[in-house]
Amino acid sequence: MVSSTRLSALVGLIAFLAVGAAVTTAVVPPASQGQVDPIDNSLDLGGTTTDTDTIVSTASVVSQKGGPTDDTPPNQPVPATVVTAIDGQLTEAGSGETRRGISMRSTSGKLSKRIISGYELVFSGTGTDAGDRDGSIQGTAYLTYKLLSNATYDVDGCLEFCNNVNGCVFANIYYEFNNDLLDFVFNENSNLKCALYADVHTAAEKTNLGGQQSEPLPAGLTYIQQSSGYASTTLVDPPTPDGYELVFGPTNGANNAPGYMGFAFLHQYDVNACAQLCNTRNADPNGGACQYFNIWRALVNGIPTTYTCSMYFLVTDASTAINTGQGDLEVTFSRGYRRKNFVVDGGFEGYTACSGFCFTDSYSNWIGISVAPGYLDASIFFFAPYAHAGHGSALLGSATGQDVLPGTLTPASPLNTVAGQQYTITFFHASVYSGRTLEAAAFVQILWNGNIVSTITPGYSAWTFYSFGVEAKGNDVLAFHGGKAPAWSFLDDICVFLT
Ligand SMILES: *[C@@H]1O[C@H](CO)[C@@H](O)[C@H](O)[C@H]1NC(C)=O
Repeated sequence: MVSSTRLSALVGLIAFLAVGAAVTTAVVPPASQGQVDPIDNSLDLGGTTTDTDTIVSTASVVSQKGGPTDDTPPNQPVPATVVTAIDGQLTEAGSGETRRGISMRSTSGKLSKRIISGYELVFSGTGTDAGDRDGSIQGTAYLTYKLLSNATYDVDGCLEFCNNVNGCVFANIYYEFNNDLLDFVFNENSNLKCALYADVHTAAEKTNLGGQQSEPLPAGLTYIQQSSGYASTTLVDPPTPDGYELVFGPTNGANNAPGYMGFAFLHQYDVNACAQLCNTRNADPNGGACQYFNIWRALVNGIPTTYTCSMYFLVTDASTAINTGQGDLEVTFSRGYRRKNFVVDGGFEGYTACSGFCFTDSYSNWIGISVAPGYLDASIFFFAPYAHAGHGSALLGSATGQDVLPGTLTPASPLNTVAGQQYTITFFHASVYSGRTLEAAAFVQILWNGNIVSTITPGYSAWTFYSFGVEAKGNDVLAFHGGKAPAWSFLDDICVFLT
């Protein structure tokens, strides 16, 4: 904040006629480093660090393990990724064991194909003696299953099936006996199941032991034999979601960082689903839109249990990916992704002509345009008290207060956008500088290739987050037009994201 001694030494005090009121009011203009209104709601990161305790406690209760049940038909479509918990609340999909006869939602072809060079045996099954009993996998990231001919124990046929299902990295092959549907109903007339998963499971997860009375008495209960598991030897990195960049990973550390907005659990490790959650997450009123996510797998006692998608309004990196787990929970396959901001230096932090207080009509990343006789009607300031975050911000309205003309602020180069794609413009705006009365006429037009996307007339308003959707024609020109000194508008943290 500006010291009050500065205010007592007012030189060049400028008089204004308040809009709509016949009073003369004295305001020190921004260019003279005037007093900012006492409302200070600039970015405050206190209490915004990753809530690891809630993530860990939710992981201890989420239940998202699955597999083919005794009455699931074969060849079901692979399910779309489902959210099993959001911000500590379990969803229906995360609340229970697999329901019998659940019908899975179909997925669109968004997942990209893995190329799997080979498989290794993770565990083998029991023998085939009448008394032998085994269990099939009840695990996370279940995809689908099919029935193989039981003329042979057809491992290759099962792995071939895995090769042809997007996301498959693990197959569980087993016989299921006394199952009415397998023995008498399904066309395959086979009891050899091949169940696929998008995560690797171990013999410790052979928890489906059958036990259903599927056929009428005197037939026995269903049971399982020769349950073996095969895992892909090559785990391919997931493709980076559109509009994002990989920042780090995979590592065994989750981010512990400020700007945390909350988390979701996913039923499988799906970076696209996490990106979609980040894109559609409600903005934080103080911090803005989601700009970064961290996805990782939770092992609980060594068993894959859930896939965490943590969202942040600040970009972080591997330096904060220091949480390797706690208690029984272990972090694995942690990756961080940054949402691409198509605006270069949207926070005006690249203007560094001084270390305390200075301003300009333009610098390498932004251009302020004034139309004669206007002067400094759009400008960039280095002065932390004017900024939403950091030390840089932009001003619309004559910085010296010498005219009432609006100015135009635009990035120095067109945006690197792609024609036909939808984008979201976000920014923070404040118009409190000259007080309630003089700020009444504050206005800003958001321009996209010279066309008005929207006009905001916030009057006297502290830092507020705004968001608008636009369609690109390629190399688009973003601009902000407004200000009517002393109804000044400050802008900061301007972003354009792929929607
Ligand atoms: C193959 O599966 C069918 C259907 O479940 C069953 O009737 C048959 O006994 C099985 N054959 C062998 C050799 O296990």
